[in-house]
Amino acid sequence: MHSLSIEHVSKSYTLDGAARPVLKDITLHVRRNEIVAIIGASGCGKSTLLRLIVGLDTDFHGSIIRGSKGAAPARVGMVFQDHRLFPWLTVEANVNLAFDSSDISPSTRSDKVRHYIDLVGLSEFAKAYPRQLSGGMAQRAAIARALAQEPDILLMDEPFGALDSILRMRLQDELLSIWEKHRLSIVIVTHDVEEALYLADRVMVMEPNPGRIRDVFEVALPRPRDRGGVLLSTLKKRCMELLI
Ligand SMILES: Nc1ncnc2c1ncn2[C@@H]1O[C@H](COP(=O)(O)OP(=O)(O)OP(=O)(O)O)[C@@H](O)[C@H]1O
Ligand SMILES: [Mg+2]
Repeated sequence: MHSLSIEHVSKSYTLDGAARPVLKDITLHVRRNEIVAIIGASGCGKSTLLRLIVGLDTDFHGSIIRGSKGAAPARVGMVFQDHRLFPWLTVEANVNLAFDSSDISPSTRSDKVRHYIDLVGLSEFAKAYPRQLSGGMAQRAAIARALAQEPDILLMDEPFGALDSILRMRLQDELLSIWEKHRLSIVIVTHDVEEALYLADRVMVMEPNPGRIRDVFEVALPRPRDRGGVLLSTLKKRCMELLI
């Protein structure tokens, strides 16, 4: 059963009166509980594709079905590259926003807020404002906000891009443990081939002008994966060849 079907999606932007194709004929089926990583050169349309998937932009050709045909639409959460927390709200209040369009009771709501803040290890900072957090903590708060929506599909646009490599590895492991507990589909855009291979079940490699799929391949390795393992190194080499 598919949780996300992207079929023959093409998209153009108009620049100086001329249409510039940005995405060309993208087809990808993301299975339930699958992690798909998207890699590709800057400008090849990765963020554009996520915006289309989440529904922020509806001006495209092709079809995107969130959820399975005939079933209720899937809930989609998004973590942007910059954390996009509201600076005038505490961590708690930022996460609370996830429930604004739902009709759950205030007490359930605050239980859930606490749960997701705990999950990303920020309980002691629930009352802190974004400016009082480090970059990694703010990013974790943004992840808590996205998870609080209890999405079936989590979209992440270079969520760890701004972080140092140690923190990045820690958050990757946290993400995998959240994924194991909550079972959701994840589409993660990254510049980091090693990150893609460490996290994903499948990697989609894109090429630019216009953005299209170069290759999609499985990373058929059990978790936890050995970051320095021979198989990952072989796959990394293959990815690099596709990207150059
Ligand atoms: N609102 C817009 N209007 C016109 N062109 C746009 C707009 N947004 C993005 N583009 C163009 O679309 C192309 C793809 O942009 P996008 O942000 O999706 O790339 P990306 O793969 O996410 O790149 P990066 O890795 O640098 O984040 C770029 O050439 C960009 O200039
Ligand atoms: Mg981008």
